[in-house]
Amino acid sequence: MIPQSFIQDLLNRVDIVDVIEHHVPLKKAGTNYSACCPFHSEKTPSFTVSPTKQFYHCFGCGAHGSAVGFMMEYGGLNFIEAVNDLAARVGMQVPVQQPESRPGMSQSGGQRTGNSSQDLFEVMNTATRFYREQLKHSESAIAYLKKRGLTGETAARFAIGYAPAGWQNLAAVFPDYQARMPTDPLVEAGLVIESDDGKRYDRFRDRIMFPILNQKGTIVGFGGRVLEQGEPKYLNSPETPLFEKGRELYNLFGARKAIREAGRVVVVEGYMDVVALSQHGIDYAVAALGTATTPYHVQKLLRQTDNVVFCFDGDNAGRKAAWRALENSLAQLVDGKSLSFLFLPEGEDPDSYVRKSGKEAFEELLGRALPLSVFLFKELSARTDLQTSEGRAKLVQEVKPLLAQVTAPTLALMLLKRLAELSGASQGELEDLLQIRRVSSSPSRARAPRPQPASPYRWLMQVLLHDPGYARKLERELLVGRSEYAEEMAAVVALVEFIDTYPHIAESMAIPSVITYFHDSPHRALLEKAESETLAWDDSIDLEAEFSGALARLREMQRKQRMTELHSKSLSALTPEEKQEYQRLMVS
Ligand code: UTP
Ligand code: MN
Repeated sequence: MIPQSFIQDLLNRVDIVDVIEHHVPLKKAGTNYSACCPFHSEKTPSFTVSPTKQFYHCFGCGAHGSAVGFMMEYGGLNFIEAVNDLAARVGMQVPVQQPESRPGMSQSGGQRTGNSSQDLFEVMNTATRFYREQLKHSESAIAYLKKRGLTGETAARFAIGYAPAGWQNLAAVFPDYQARMPTDPLVEAGLVIESDDGKRYDRFRDRIMFPILNQKGTIVGFGGRVLEQGEPKYLNSPETPLFEKGRELYNLFGARKAIREAGRVVVVEGYMDVVALSQHGIDYAVAALGTATTPYHVQKLLRQTDNVVFCFDGDNAGRKAAWRALENSLAQLVDGKSLSFLFLPEGEDPDSYVRKSGKEAFEELLGRALPLSVFLFKELSARTDLQTSEGRAKLVQEVKPLLAQVTAPTLALMLLKRLAELSGASQGELEDLLQIRRVSSSPSRARAPRPQPASPYRWLMQVLLHDPGYARKLERELLVGRSEYAEEMAAVVALVEFIDTYPHIAESMAIPSVITYFHDSPHRALLEKAESETLAWDDSIDLEAEFSGALARLREMQRKQRMTELHSKSLSALTPEEKQEYQRLMVS
């Protein structure tokens, strides 16, 4: 048995586009990729691969599946072989599930054994405790933090610690430190490095330690800063089964409540920026971890709040980083949400600024951040001479690939209008030039209604497959009783059960094809069909509306059914309660 959580990790790691492209040449088609189907013979491509949903679907022959499914169908492998094959590609070790869960391992998340996430979490917790304890005994580390203006209270709140100098300090809390295991949890967690000749030593030595928590509040990595000078200034945990830099944000867990209350999040560059801002009463700051802001980051943040302010240093490097953040944000933009960019005065970072000028002054700056659209055109205009036709032509050409990524309809329109102003071309001319589908600019323009499935269960299935998080909001009474759609109801029940059992999948931001988990289930065919129907869904889909639409239809269906049931009894056979119920159902 391969633990479900491992399959989840695996599917989060591999990219189905890479996997398939290895065997079948893919062409980009909008947000998806297409090719002539490898599973049946055809002249025009109807095989589609969705990078966002991580599944493939052929509109011709109905072939459908995840990366694992592809390796099974195309490579002729069985499930276990396919998982092994993919794991080997990304250097993951397939764990073996043991029948019983082990005592003393009761934290969330773990159906895993061997080096399960569970074991690795334990390792991280132990290390954090150790580092914090060490901080208490290190005069130099305490002096350093004091010098940087940190209070003991702040350090405690962020669980900041100290990894002492020396090579094998962690041996003090890990009795197995020297034991050479085939897959060593300390090595896998990134805390210990094993040299080629088998010597083992601590990765973090003589550094201030910042634990990094994932969205569920579990420690998944560390950032370690040298005291004073040294290279690298910050050493971060390597990528591990727990920690993927491009997806985590420092302090997102701790900032959740403050983000909700403030109605915004500010994204800064460094650990110390987050910590200093918090000490000064700005608790809604997060930081990317030594990487550029990724689309996952933006997506994650936009799920928490409508207002994201990126804060950068005012120097050249800051502007470059801001531009990368902008590029990585475009595809994630949603109408009604706002992204903006704040550049601090040259030589300042949020840490130094807030210490010098305080909370109000910093929040004042936040209020004056440049909206994404303004920053975009400001930056591009600065690169060209808009006085000349050539310069204006260059502007149009540079906006083109950026605009192409924006799926938020209103924002795309506004950007186009602004481009028209700056370039002197009309909006219509630009639409022709940039091959943008002409849209009516009437404000009431509604999206073409999506054909809705006949069965509300099918509809619900689509929503749940698109975002399993909706299982939490689903009233379970809607899933009982007789139904003309018994089969589809059973599939929804199975799906919901699965999501309940593996909530980490529901909470995971990147949902790879859920179908993988149903490879030998009787509901597979139905779920596959429903999943393929979501292929055309993009960011503009109003999931909330789809969800409540499906629920409304379900309730209505149940109401009618109950009425029919009551109706079929003779009036005298109805109990008083049933009579009342009938009346209620009539008017509702
Ligand atoms: P900065 O070099 O701007 O440092 O790096 P800082 O945050 O102001 O650090 P202090 O104030 O000197 O302590 C910004 C961020 O980039 C990542 C870290 O996440 C850091 O917080 N970084 C930087 C690294 O990952 N490695 C490095 O060597 C340097
Ligand atoms: Mn700094």
